[in-house]
Amino acid sequence: MHNPFALIGKTILVTGASSGIGRTIAIECSKLGADIILTGRNESRLQETLSQLKEGQHKYIVADITIEEDIITIVEQLPTLTGCVHSAGILGLVPIQAITKAKINEFEQINLHAPILLTKQLLKRKKLAKNSSVVFISSAAGVYRVSTANALYAVTKSGLDAFMRSAALELASKNIRFNSVNPAMIETEALSNIPISEEQKNANLAQYPIKRYGKPEEVAYATIYLLSDASAWTTGTEIKLDGGLTLS
Ligand SMILES: NC(=O)c1ccc[n+]([C@@H]2O[C@H](COP(=O)([O-])OP(=O)(O)OC[C@H]3O[C@@H](n4cnc5c(N)ncnc54)[C@H](OP(=O)(O)O)[C@@H]3O)[C@@H](O)[C@H]2O)c1
Repeated sequence: MHNPFALIGKTILVTGASSGIGRTIAIECSKLGADIILTGRNESRLQETLSQLKEGQHKYIVADITIEEDIITIVEQLPTLTGCVHSAGILGLVPIQAITKAKINEFEQINLHAPILLTKQLLKRKKLAKNSSVVFISSAAGVYRVSTANALYAVTKSGLDAFMRSAALELASKNIRFNSVNPAMIETEALSNIPISEEQKNANLAQYPIKRYGKPEEVAYATIYLLSDASAWTTGTEIKLDGGLTLS
């Protein structure tokens, strides 16, 4: 059956594959025929993701991508890729008066420096095939809206989108595409770890015209579009997923 979104024959690296959005992206991509290389720090959770993938040539690499040597170790073990999804990241609320240099570093190292340095190494070691697609899991925060106590996170994600557009321009002649998916709140464990009361959550939910948060699968489907040949002419752009949040 004709399916322009099929990923058969594609080999895709997924960071942050040990949980949440990254795990779901890995699972959904495997269902469409891709071979997946998972990475994250927690080996048992990577094994759990691996066990949920549809058959294929999958593997995992344990690494902390805030450490540059670990990035190099990952890249050295990779075959030529046709796709890469940068999903590893942290969320968290930090009021401006509580910001410290250590907190800035914590957010920037994983949300911004890691995807930039991993992209650099993939290019330097020629691990991205012609016609490959790189997808950053960015955010609506910082790009389409800001909210109280979310400045550090917003700074990293708007920076990531600026990097994505720059890379798209720089690598267009090699036909390597760079795009991002920018979700508002998605129901994952990371979200449930943010300390907000039920009352605050309900007030937040009420702002969404479609009265619910997104699902990890919905992020995966947008990512699949960007990884597939269906998006061959799409580069340097963001896909906003927000249940209508930023319409008003
Ligand atoms: N959930 C949301 O509402 C939402 C909304 C918009 C955007 N996003 C973005 O979506 C992405 C995934 O979020 P999520 O909700 O799926 O969070 P999550 O479940 O906490 O997943 C985060 C992933 O990042 C990995 N990670 C964190 N630090 C790492 C490090 N130093 N080295 C390697 N891997 C590391 C974690 O793996 P290990 O612990 O195994 O290292 C984990 O697999 C993030 O970039 C986030 O900003 C999330």
